[in-house]
Amino acid sequence: MPDSERRIATPVLVIGTGGAGLRAAIELAERGMGVLAIGKRPKGDAHTTLAAGGINAALATMDPQDTWQQHAADTLQESYLLADPRIVRIVTENAARGIDDLVHYGMPFAREADGRISQRFFGAHTWRRTAFSGDYTGLEIQRTLVNRAAQLKVPILDTVCITRLLVRDNVIFGAYGFDLNDGARYVIHADAVILATGGHTRIWRRTSSRRDENTGDSFRLAVLAGARIRDPELVQFHPSGLIEPENAAGTLVSEAARGEGGRLLNALGERFMARYDPERMELSTRDRVALAAYTEIKEGRGTPAGGVLLDVSHLPRATIMTRLPRVYQTLLELQMLDITKDPIEVAPTAHYSMGGVWVRPEDHGTDVDGLYAIGEAASGLHGANRLGGNSLIELLVYGRITGAAAAAYAASRDTQRRGGSALAEARQEVDDLLACDGPENVRALQRAVRDIMTEHGGVVRDEAGLRQGLVELAAVEARMGDLGVHPDLAGYQDLAHAFDLKSTVLAARATLEAALERRETRGCHNRSDHPETDTSLRVNLVWSGPGKIEREPLPPIPAEIAALMREVSTHGKLVE
Ligand code: FUM
Repeated sequence: MPDSERRIATPVLVIGTGGAGLRAAIELAERGMGVLAIGKRPKGDAHTTLAAGGINAALATMDPQDTWQQHAADTLQESYLLADPRIVRIVTENAARGIDDLVHYGMPFAREADGRISQRFFGAHTWRRTAFSGDYTGLEIQRTLVNRAAQLKVPILDTVCITRLLVRDNVIFGAYGFDLNDGARYVIHADAVILATGGHTRIWRRTSSRRDENTGDSFRLAVLAGARIRDPELVQFHPSGLIEPENAAGTLVSEAARGEGGRLLNALGERFMARYDPERMELSTRDRVALAAYTEIKEGRGTPAGGVLLDVSHLPRATIMTRLPRVYQTLLELQMLDITKDPIEVAPTAHYSMGGVWVRPEDHGTDVDGLYAIGEAASGLHGANRLGGNSLIELLVYGRITGAAAAAYAASRDTQRRGGSALAEARQEVDDLLACDGPENVRALQRAVRDIMTEHGGVVRDEAGLRQGLVELAAVEARMGDLGVHPDLAGYQDLAHAFDLKSTVLAARATLEAALERRETRGCHNRSDHPETDTSLRVNLVWSGPGKIEREPLPPIPAEIAALMREVSTHGKLVE
């Protein structure tokens, strides 16, 4: 056993200190339940801070006709029928409560002159239902939750990397990890564990995630613990990621830019969305706008650098400064570009994991007793296309519900069966990696996986490419046998990168295998060799390890909601 192993016991452990993890931790603390929250990144810099344009709830502040039922109908329609109607109902019906909670915690929403919360259009919503705070909504939510957690004195450990969940006889009893700065090991015993460790979009080359986040930790931790992954192939490519500079490729230009009236143009100056969705134009669904941009570029109508143009320069300067301040600042900082005068060059960027850990609708419990998953780590709300703004509300709603469920579960436990082989295996895994002194560089292998996913598992996929991707991935897996892992005086980041690589490879395998199995085009999943939607594939694909995929049928959509769903033509979808 390492000398510096630190032992902690807590009723509930929350892994991940983004919005989902913090909201759950707040619920636990408000209920008087002991909780410890642990994050790999500093809590003030969690990925949630990047969420830009807004958060959805049918508050009807701008459009009085709006209802939660219509929000549910829009979410289901745009999920291409792969969202779980029970999860959709819970999120949309409880969304107003989620906004109320934030307001009580001090969230500074944009408001109309008379005090109503402002709501803007986001793509494919029937009404204006996206509340916001400029285009810094996620940052303000994170700040608000960090402050509330501090008021409640929630203990938070930053910069700890969790490497394994500890499970005995399918019951969770804690987690194992190490400190990124000094390498000290942590054994954390807990009755319940909430996984809020994000998605896997950093495994593509152009992504709106930063380095070392969203590398698929949730997938790996959950699967090794005995949980399963639902629809890993369903990954949302956001239409507008920056293409330059190279080290910031994929940085998001918020959909708020289109919500406020921004136009998409190809290199010929055409508003190309007229070709793909003439009714909704730039406010079409993300999958369509992303595919349209991809198609324009692929067919030679893109810019020389391989992008299309997003133009807001016709909008009043005041609109840009108050509604799109982050886009304005980001472009000035990264490119010295003044968006009040010039268009922005963008291309699709991997943005959100719509699949994730399989969870029960009622409480987001997993297949493992006492293990829960929330936020981007979980699945079930978005299906094959997420409505922009739905992820922020999901983390508020299920943060509360899951926090309450974990509190009840922990309170119901009168014994905890620890031990078995889990802890010894977790220790050994870290020891083994630290002993690696081979020639293979962790960063280079991560880069190789990102190249594979970009080449073979991107916006448009086909059988031959996916199979080739799996062959190339197997070669990377083989090279991992010769890794060199070298923590140094600066810290244990190299060890963390090695774990990121393990997660990356597992998430890539799950994604490619499920993408191969889904032989149809549906939402974000475009198969050029299967351009039609196959009604027999209106199922979730549930992955539990290499080569293991089950089909899970979805429950029916309640008649009340089905009546509000509008058919939208798929004409122009896969134009290639
Ligand atoms: O474009 C955006 O502001 C992203 C919002 C979201 O992904 O929900």
